[in-house]
Amino acid sequence: MCPGKYYLSTLAFLFSLFLFSCQAEKPNTSLLNANNLTSFYVRIDPAQDMKIRTPKGATINIRKGTFDKVVELEIKEAYTMSDILLGGLITESNSEPLISGGMVYINAKDRQQLVPKLPINISIPTAYVNTDMQVFKGEEKEDGTINWVNPDTLPVTPQTAVLEEGRSLFQQNCQTCHALDKNLTGPSLRGFTQRGPWRNRQAVYNWIHNPAAFMARDRYTQDLKQQYGVVMQAFPALTNRQIDVVIAYLNNEEGNLAADEYDGSYTYTTPVNQLCTDTQYIFREQPLNDEPTTTFDTLPSDTSSYFESTESAPAVDLRGGFTDKPTSGAYEFEIKTLGWYNVDAYMKGLPGTFPCVLSVQVNGETIVDLKVYVFFPRHKDLSVGSQRGNNWFYFEKSEGKMPMFLGTKGIVLAFGSKGEQLYIGKGSFYAKPSQQIKVDLQPTTEEAFLQLVKKGNIEGIDFKLNKAIKYVSYNLCDQDTSKAGAPGAITN
Ligand code: HEC
Repeated sequence: MCPGKYYLSTLAFLFSLFLFSCQAEKPNTSLLNANNLTSFYVRIDPAQDMKIRTPKGATINIRKGTFDKVVELEIKEAYTMSDILLGGLITESNSEPLISGGMVYINAKDRQQLVPKLPINISIPTAYVNTDMQVFKGEEKEDGTINWVNPDTLPVTPQTAVLEEGRSLFQQNCQTCHALDKNLTGPSLRGFTQRGPWRNRQAVYNWIHNPAAFMARDRYTQDLKQQYGVVMQAFPALTNRQIDVVIAYLNNEEGNLAADEYDGSYTYTTPVNQLCTDTQYIFREQPLNDEPTTTFDTLPSDTSSYFESTESAPAVDLRGGFTDKPTSGAYEFEIKTLGWYNVDAYMKGLPGTFPCVLSVQVNGETIVDLKVYVFFPRHKDLSVGSQRGNNWFYFEKSEGKMPMFLGTKGIVLAFGSKGEQLYIGKGSFYAKPSQQIKVDLQPTTEEAFLQLVKKGNIEGIDFKLNKAIKYVSYNLCDQDTSKAGAPGAITN
């Protein structure tokens, strides 16, 4: 039945783990459906506390006594735009569009009714924590699609507590002069740790504690003052930890910014250096990785790392230990029943969104089972249009409109078959208050279509969004290389 099935037994435990990669045989109406997603199977011993690490980086805690017999669970994960699309996982709650922070399916392998006696804890990885997210339960509809219902708030974790603390410190101390998306009295702080001297954390502490003293020795901030006209206020009382917390908050907020295209506003250009002739300002491009680092395309053959008793710590600590890397987040929640779960936020009302008019005209063949999807890779959402006439599709979701993040790039995907022949049409657009998109159908094969989705690049838009950010790196002349990158360090 399933090719590539393999079996392993972990000697350290009294149970064994099956892990195989194949597609279930459940029929489904759409080409893009949950059977396209790889399943992970794990056998649960009811007499042990178990912590499961999934291939894509989730942690699932199942306590002793959660089940009263040995059960085999099936787990599927969808954290990237590619996964969501492959799985045809429409992100709507009673037709209200959602943006997704990740979805997970956990159920008895044979899909038999199985009710856990204790709640199960799940932690899924995310590049950024969006505090608007809630957890929704999936309700499978007859056509195989899922309606996401019963939103519940996510519990506070050490990580979300840090983000909240950072938000309030920023609001109390910095917000009057700084924003992330525009210059105010002071420069936009978007990406600031990647420019000027700020990749060195000590330089940031010194600057915030005493801008005037820092500036006296530093060309970069002198130039900033030329531009902004004032010297920044000093915050001698903020501790280094509090500054770290503010930076963790800012880094996380950057990930949640609506704009998907870098607008260049924070690139710092400097005139020929006059104070110090051999200071170099180097412009570089650096990819901004938008995906969790713990994603594997295929299941690695060594499964032992997925499976641990609760005594041993996970290989990668996804909680706590906040680093600057925008890949250290996690959404944690508890489930009381099995099935699909989705960490989402309602798109409507999020900052940057607008209720838009969106219609799609599909040209070419007349196809009966035509489906038209629209999605915004930046926000991980998937909506389906309703057909009117032969070839018009409307996205009348929230009070007749489709909430979209203005200015962000969306992709339209149309597909359907005529006889044996599959047709697809694709197009992209930038969200405006009103738009009509035309797509032309072209013949293709199922394999080529799924390949396109798996590759995560349609219409030249990479779902992985490894967009380049520009930053200025800089060497200071009056310090030796051991202190390079730490200009302005104040010595007494
Ligand atoms: C009263 C206004 C004001 C406040 C409040 C303020 N800043 Fe600034 N900040 C500035 C100005 C103006 C500059 C530009 C440099 C200069 O002219 O001193 C600046 C520059 C910076 C820079 C360098 C930015 C770059 O583009 O390289 C950082 C980092 C920074 N501020 C962080 C903070 C943080 C963190 C806080 C809150 C703890 C804060 N600032 C509060 C006005 C302010």
